[in-house]
Amino acid sequence: MSTEAAIRVQGIEKAYGELSVLRGVDFDVARGSIFALLGSNGAGKTTLVRILSTLLKADAGAASVHGFDVASQAGDVRESISLTGQFAAVDEVLTGRENLVLIAKLRHLKNPGAIADDLLGRFSLTDAGSRPASTYSGGMRRRLDIAMSLIGNPPIIFLDEPTTGLDPQARIDVWQTVKQLAHGGTTVLLTTQYLDEAEQLADRIAILHRGTIIQNGTLAELKALLPAAKVEYVEKQPTLEEVFLTLVGETGETDTTAGTDAAAAAGKESR
Ligand SMILES: Nc1ncnc2c1ncn2[C@@H]1O[C@H](COP(=O)(O)OP(=O)(O)OP(=O)(O)O)[C@@H](O)[C@H]1O
Ligand SMILES: [Mg+2]
Repeated sequence: MSTEAAIRVQGIEKAYGELSVLRGVDFDVARGSIFALLGSNGAGKTTLVRILSTLLKADAGAASVHGFDVASQAGDVRESISLTGQFAAVDEVLTGRENLVLIAKLRHLKNPGAIADDLLGRFSLTDAGSRPASTYSGGMRRRLDIAMSLIGNPPIIFLDEPTTGLDPQARIDVWQTVKQLAHGGTTVLLTTQYLDEAEQLADRIAILHRGTIIQNGTLAELKALLPAAKVEYVEKQPTLEEVFLTLVGETGETDTTAGTDAAAAAGKESR
């Protein structure tokens, strides 16, 4: 995937004063795929997303997005991406439709009204489109936020914790949206703390821990890191949560010799 990678991250380092957050992060994201970056609170997920979306400069290393270098070609990178931040960027006073029209106008697109109506339809917000966003539920607001980030059809989108705080149905709606985007050829890099979200969505999952990527693989590859445990009459595969907690350690310590502990942990959770 070398020349085909939509996102390429090589040796990225970032410190805030004394606090070294990223200590050499490497990964590639294939075009049209969904890549999940998993990590605990404070692992540096948002920091990395901010570097890739040119909002923050790395101290060392290189990254390219859509073939453009994030440091020297920031303008080209920005034209190739959209970013849905960890906190919804919707204007509460405006209606859903007005929010969309505003962004379309800011992007100098023709027919902003038609673009807004199309997105309202795609995100099941047509009926709510004429109401102020302040009256929306968290899930509706999140969908509007994602809809706003799709204006102009960027080939690459960054979603920083897209479903944090949403109820299960709203999360499923957002997952559906993300899957449709990837189907349409958009490359998606999302961060999440929800392990089931990564299981549901991601073609590849990378675990960011103590400043580096400690594992990067498909769900099947990550699960294969731990042996399946025999539990009574049922053979249970380890869940991604068990893989994650074993790799990261329940206390946040990385434990590289924990395969057998994980098997034991899996055994305790018989269904
Ligand atoms: N501007 C800043 N100045 C100083 N420290 C910062 C700054 N931004 C982030 N940090 C610190 O860097 C570390 C990584 O933060 P970051 O927001 O990237 O983590 P995260 O993985 O996104 O966490 P969360 O899951 O809570 O969103 C944290 O310890 C945070 O306190
Ligand atoms: Mg964050």
